[in-house]
This record gives sequence, C-alpha cells and structure tokens, in this order.
Amino acid sequence: MKSDYSKAIQFTGENAFNRSVDYALKQLEILNSGKGKGNDFLGWINLPQSYDEDEIADIIEVADSLRELDAVVIIGIGGSYLGAKAVIEALKPHFEKTDPEIIFAGHNLSGNYHAELIEYLKNKEFGLIVISKSGTTTEPAIAFRLLYNEMKQRFDKETIKKRIVAITDAEKGALRQLADKEGFTDFIIADNVGGRFSVLSPVGLLPISVAGFDIEEFLRGASIAQDICLEATNENPAVKYAAMRNLLYASGHKVELMVNYNLRLNYFAEWWKQLYGESEGKESKGIFPASVSFTTDLHSLGQYIQQGERQIFETEILVNDNSDAPIIPEDKEDLDKLNYIAGKDMEFVNRKAAEGTLMAHFDGKVPNILFEIDSLDEYNLGFMMYFFELACGISGYMLGVNPFDQPGVEDYKRNMFKLLGK
Ligand code: PA5
Repeated sequence: MKSDYSKAIQFTGENAFNRSVDYALKQLEILNSGKGKGNDFLGWINLPQSYDEDEIADIIEVADSLRELDAVVIIGIGGSYLGAKAVIEALKPHFEKTDPEIIFAGHNLSGNYHAELIEYLKNKEFGLIVISKSGTTTEPAIAFRLLYNEMKQRFDKETIKKRIVAITDAEKGALRQLADKEGFTDFIIADNVGGRFSVLSPVGLLPISVAGFDIEEFLRGASIAQDICLEATNENPAVKYAAMRNLLYASGHKVELMVNYNLRLNYFAEWWKQLYGESEGKESKGIFPASVSFTTDLHSLGQYIQQGERQIFETEILVNDNSDAPIIPEDKEDLDKLNYIAGKDMEFVNRKAAEGTLMAHFDGKVPNILFEIDSLDEYNLGFMMYFFELACGISGYMLGVNPFDQPGVEDYKRNMFKLLGK
C-alpha cells in the first residue's frame, strides 16, 4: 500500500506533522506496552500471527460444509458483521449470484426485510452463522429466533445441527447457553477482542471462507501489516496516518471522508466508519467519519465538499487495476462527442476523474491523504484492515479516549428495553 501525504502536509506544515508523528509513536509504545486505556481489549493486535494450521483448517472445514447449501445467512450487527460484509462485497462479482448465496440478517430491526427473507428462504437449503460476542444483542437474537424457528419447521434435529454455527463468548451470554444446549458447532470470540476489531478472528474468517475467498491470503496480508505497523519508526504507516488525522482534527477538520472510486469498496467504508466512529466518538470529542463513492457522489455531495463549510478532509483509497475495464469504442458519427477518449479503458477515465477531483478539492481547501493499492484482493484487504485497526488504536490514544469501549451504545438500548417492558 502506497501513501501520499503531500496534499495534507500543505495544510499542516512539515514540522507540525513531524511533531505529531513523534507523539503518535509514543502512543504506539503505550499501546504495545499494554498499559493504556482499555488494555483488556488488545487481543486483536496479535490476531494475524496467532493462528496455527489446525485452527485455520478447522474454519475452512466448517466453511466448506456450509458451502454445499443454497444460501448461508450471517446474523450479526456492528462489529459482528461489518468486517465480513466489507471483504465479501469487495471481492464478489457485481452481478453474478454467488454460490452459496451469502445473506446478512439481524443487522437491523426492519420487519419487511426479515419477512421477505423468511419468504425468500422458503424453498432453499439454508444455513445460519449467528455471531454475537455478548450473545444478548437484540437485533441478531430476534433474527436468529425467527430463522431458527423456520428451520425447526422444515428440518430434523440432526440436519439443523449441521447447519447452524454460533460464534460467541466462551462462557457468557444467551447464545453460548443455546449453542451448548443444542450442540451447534461453535467458535469462540476471545474476551480481549472487541467486536469492531474482530474481522481477523472467526467472526470475519468463517463468513469470508464460506463466501469462497482465501482466508490464508487475507491473514497473510494482515500479518505483513502487523510487522510493519508495530515498528517503532517514523515511517510506520499507521503512526503517520494517526498523526495526520489528529493534526487535521486539531486544526478544525472535524469530518473525515473515506473516498473511493470503486463501488466494491463501499462496505469497506462502512466497516471503517464503525471502527473509527465507535472507537473515537466519545467524551464530546472525535472526528466524524463519513464516506463517499466517486464519481457517483461527485454529483451529490461533491458540491458540499468543494464549497461547503471547510471542516472536511479526505482519506482516499485508489485501486490501480484496470485489467477488467472495458475499452471505449470508436464511433464513426461521434454524436456523443466521445471519440477523444476512444481506445482508452474506462478505468483510465476514472483515474483522470480522481486526479482532477483531488486537484479541485485541494484548491477548495480540502486536505487529502491518499492510499493506493495494486489490486482489490484478499491480501490487500487483510493488510488494509489491520493497518486501519492499528492506526485507530494509536489515534484514539492521541485523542485521549479509550478506543476500545462503546458506553454510548447502551443509551438507546436502555430506552428501548424500557419501552418494550423488559
Ligand atoms: O464493536 C462493537 O463492539 C459493537 O459494534 C458490537 O460488535 C455490536 O454491538 C454487536 O455486539 P455483539 O457481538 O455482542 O452482538
């Protein structure tokens, strides 16, 4: 992954950036020492390098048995589904139906979504992966009850046992009790791995493997990132990213937009938003993480970004891969006046749009941090996910918050439970 800070440094100055990098390095040291805030939730730091062959083989074996079904429903919310969804959306074809079909549920309380899902599964051989660290979260619990109920009406006990996998805490929670009592296959989410930092645990690995993608390559990318991002050097990419975004925040850039020019990265941005939003947005502080997909959003939010309130900076991910882009054909009549780009591939145009936009936004006083990867594959996704997680830990410490808790999430639940008469 290449990075370019030149279009951000011009707003902050080189010296301030260097000072911020020094401060970020100190926070990395604290993170590494295990003495910082939330230090009982640091198990994710070593996840990529913590697996032995048997553990991976076990995940792949369970995934392979689920792959024989027509559809597999992944039930979970927040950190219990976004990582897997991000990777699967980044790798799967746009239009072809995948085999098995991967469906997500329990990430909302929409009645029509779940009613239609039940109907859709009526004639299908389906399985369930239910993921909840606490094992008590309302959204996935309801979805699981509904779909388990459907299964009980259609399949015998033995079949059901083969088709349900639970991923939850080793001891605590209702899902753990249910899994033990019913004898579901299960994987454990370690106590010291929080939901939004769990994509490199079975929470992400099992669904990604069920979708047919290579989790060993995914972990290899993450493992390389682990080596690089834990190094105490001012060239450490996670340190630099944390340093720059905090510096921009301190100078009034309170909104960070993750920018892509590839629709496949839209859910990667959703994963990133949850990671940073839930980790940093507390104690009345924190950058607001948002996202745009260009060039689509240049025709909507583009206007605001160019000329609205000056509080935005961009973190852009470009994929340098034009291997499957169609060539724009020559047309004799040229009524649409496109012959000037005939013979070019569509990604060439996309790239020029990206370059032109970067210049325009820079002129419009929007700092830009640029990351580039060669292809959208398991390796690069694993690398980027570990990189963003580690940078998030450093960045949260720079901000002075505990990046590993989410006390604010309880407030809506308290009210909802009261209103439901729990
Ligand atoms: O990042 C987090 O910790 C949260 O987003 C959780 O993943 C989310 O609330 C789901 O929790 P659970 O896995 O306990 O059902």
